Order: sequence, then C-alpha cells, then structure tokens
Amino acid sequence: MKERGEKIAVLTAYDYTMARLLDRAGIDVILVGDSVGMVVLGFDNTLPVTLDMMIHHTRAVSRGAKRALIVADMPFLTFQLNMEEAMRNAGRLIQEGGAAAVKIEGGGRQIGDTAKRLVDIGIPVMGHLGLTPQSVHQLGGFRPQGRDSETAERLLKEADLLEKAGVFAIVLESIPADLAARVTASLKVPTIGIGAGPQCDGQVLVINDMLGFSDGPVPPFAKQYAQLSEQIVSAARAYIEEVRGRAASPEGRSQ
Ligand code: KIV
Repeated sequence: MKERGEKIAVLTAYDYTMARLLDRAGIDVILVGDSVGMVVLGFDNTLPVTLDMMIHHTRAVSRGAKRALIVADMPFLTFQLNMEEAMRNAGRLIQEGGAAAVKIEGGGRQIGDTAKRLVDIGIPVMGHLGLTPQSVHQLGGFRPQGRDSETAERLLKEADLLEKAGVFAIVLESIPADLAARVTASLKVPTIGIGAGPQCDGQVLVINDMLGFSDGPVPPFAKQYAQLSEQIVSAARAYIEEVRGRAASPEGRSQ
C-alpha cells in the first residue's frame, strides 16, 4: 500500500462484535492493543495487562474479523526478559489468539534483536516508537516525544534499526509531525501514526476514543467520529424511566 501511495486505516478492537463491525466497514488492520487495559479493564496504564488477557481479547477479535489483518500487542514483560520467552509468547498470540502479527514497543538494540528473531521464526512484527505507553514511568507520564534534536535523531536511528530487523510497519505515537514525516520518508516500510501528523503512511486510533465511547479524558489528537457515551447514557436513562414509570414495557411493546 505504501508503494502504491495508499493510506492504511488501522483501529483498535478488543471484542468479537467490534471486530465484525470494523471488518464490515473495510478497515485494513485491527490492532488488539494493550490499551484494552485502560479503555476496557479500567487500569491507569497498560502495565498490568498480561499475556493471558491479550490472548483472550485477541481470540474474540479473530473470531469476528475475517478480512482485516489482526495485530496483537505483546504486553509489558512478555518480550523483554529473554529471547525464548519472547518467541513463546509471540507464538501464543498467533497460535492461541489467532493474530497474524505482533507489535512490540521500543527501539533499542535488544528490541531490534528480538524483532529480528521473531521475524526469523515466521512471526511478522510491527514496531512502536515515540510515546511507548509501557515506558510511562520512565517517560514521566503520557508525554509527547521527539521534541528536541537529540531525541529526534535517536528515533530516526531506532526506526532504521527496526526496519533492518525486519518489522513490516512502525507505529509512531505522539511525535512532532515534521519528525514523523522524516521517519516516513526514510523508511520503505509504512509508518502508522497516532498523534504524529498527517504524513504517516497510515493512521491508528483507539476505537473507544474515536467513537466517543469512554467516560474519561480523550487524548487531544484523537478525533471523535461519534459520541456513543452520550447515546448510551440517554438510552439507559430512557430505559430506567420506562421501567420505573411503567410507561412502556422494556421489551418494547405495551402489556
Ligand atoms: O495499545 C494500543 O492501542 C496501541 C495504539 C495506541 C497504537 O498501542
């Protein structure tokens, strides 16, 4: 798609029904992100998400999506400890979860070696640079990255290293648009941006953010295409009123 100049549309999903709907809409890639920990499970960050949780949600998504490419996030501590564990855990997301590829965060030498090894055993890998939520404590919060020349140059090197390791795409999260454009121009593999400007080869959003389906703050870059929270609250209120007031049966017909 990058070679043809076609933009790549990516959304997250965490369950069967949403995966079916996004597939029907024609989404290119469904990312079963470890953001599931925050937007579905109510954690403050993605660190408590386990491999078993990811397998559970990835299985549901893969039952629903028959056409889109399914990428599953490798959660914190499932790919950093040693190569054998990284291979086994990535393999479980493919074998048990039904994903076609995995995503790993970070870009140092060790992550590059891990990506290469996974690719060597036949597991397609997506990289993730910039704001990498699994490093939230090291980064001092969910802050934009790559704003000074030193971190920008490091990110360019990391993207090059990941491409050489064999990743098929790289997510660029919360970095300046001009840096994302430089990274995109420097790579053969596509970049998928989130809060990284319009010049990436594709865009990804967390489904709950773009549908207005959350009860908390939404990142400033996340455009909302619907306001489902409001609709859900009003639908629930209408139901409660009907049940309490006996104005109409909750089954939708008068009794
Ligand atoms: O976990 C996730 O949803 C992600 C996207 C924000 C890229 O990694």
